[in-house]
Amino acid sequence: MRIAILKERDAGETRVAATPETIKKFVKAGHVLAVEKGAGDGASIRDADFTDAGAEVGTLAASLKGADAVFAVRKPDAATLKKIAKGTLLVSHLDPSAEVADEMAASGLDALSMEFVPRITRAQAMDALSSQSNLAGYRAVIEASQLYGRAFPMMMTAAGTVAPAKAFVMGVGVAGLQAIATARRLGAVVTATDVRPAVKEQVASLGAKFIAVEDEEFKQAETAGGYAKQMSAEYQAKQAELVASHIAKQDVVVTTALIPGRPAPKLITKAMVESMKPGSVIVDLAAPTGGNCELTKADEIIDHNGVKIAGYNNLPGRLAADASALYAKNLANLLPLLVDEDGNRAPHWDDEIIQGMALSRDGAVVHPNFAKQET
Ligand code: NAI
Repeated sequence: MRIAILKERDAGETRVAATPETIKKFVKAGHVLAVEKGAGDGASIRDADFTDAGAEVGTLAASLKGADAVFAVRKPDAATLKKIAKGTLLVSHLDPSAEVADEMAASGLDALSMEFVPRITRAQAMDALSSQSNLAGYRAVIEASQLYGRAFPMMMTAAGTVAPAKAFVMGVGVAGLQAIATARRLGAVVTATDVRPAVKEQVASLGAKFIAVEDEEFKQAETAGGYAKQMSAEYQAKQAELVASHIAKQDVVVTTALIPGRPAPKLITKAMVESMKPGSVIVDLAAPTGGNCELTKADEIIDHNGVKIAGYNNLPGRLAADASALYAKNLANLLPLLVDEDGNRAPHWDDEIIQGMALSRDGAVVHPNFAKQET
């Protein structure tokens, strides 16, 4: 199979969908890799590193010529999509929606969305949401430590004692767990909250304290898929009361709460921000889907009465080398499901992983969430 690796065109996207390590693996398996020149610039991978690993490096047109598949980090822009031949397999984050599925079908691409890798054990090594969220959780705390004008650990010095930072992590999925672990490693006193009861033990095992409204609704808040449900207005009011009294005492808050397919739940109101001490920091990982804090502005760091609120849109991109390495590995682990025994392009359309990811095939929308019902 001939696989093209695109240079990302989204502003601020530093990651790349292949590394010399994965290129070597693909080439060894008999595939031809065509990398667009400059594709690795943001992740500190030189064109020569790709060439040394066995890839062809050239222009976009040269990379796409004869490509059976295109691997990317983000959905290619409209101009690039036009240049990809009909029938090509596109594997990328696609920000999936009905509109995107229609766009992919209209482009004649067989499009697989990395956001839709099913959360089953067999697919864990292909799960880009997890590989990237883990890094985002780490980086959120590192960014917070930069924005916070004090130290994280307690320090007892001859000149006096520096109190440890109090960090609060809201939403304890993949990103939240890594945020807790990182804040703990830096010496903060960490508390965390979530609506899923399964999280309680995980928080404790990382040395943090769990706080939550633990009523009957909380006991039922996890879906069969392991995600959070949308909570009732009554629960949200109780949760807001708990958060309001707790957050006023926090120095650093990292929010990661998401509900699949919905805007991020608003957990921090303007009044709560105003109750926090000047110098406190909020890093809102939910910024791309509206933010967990009412005041968050995507891709901006704002200062509200001395409280900094950071709404980074692409935290994994701030660790481009590691994020690219893990994402490229996710794709390499997916590859066996895209080819036949001879290495020719042959997506395993009947496999539940490919079925979960496929938005379009042969010019039609195929994902059950977006396919038009026959009338
Ligand atoms: P996510 O990114 O969808 O959400 C982050 C966290 O926000 C979740 O823990 C969620 O419960 C929490 N949340 C939602 N609404 C909230 C609210 N109102 N207040 C407080 N917290 C709220 O979650 P992520 O990181 O994608 O993980 C979801 C689940 O999937 C977890 O159970 C995780 O262990 C599981 N998982 C399973 C995998 C597999 O089996 N292959 C791979 C990765 C994750």
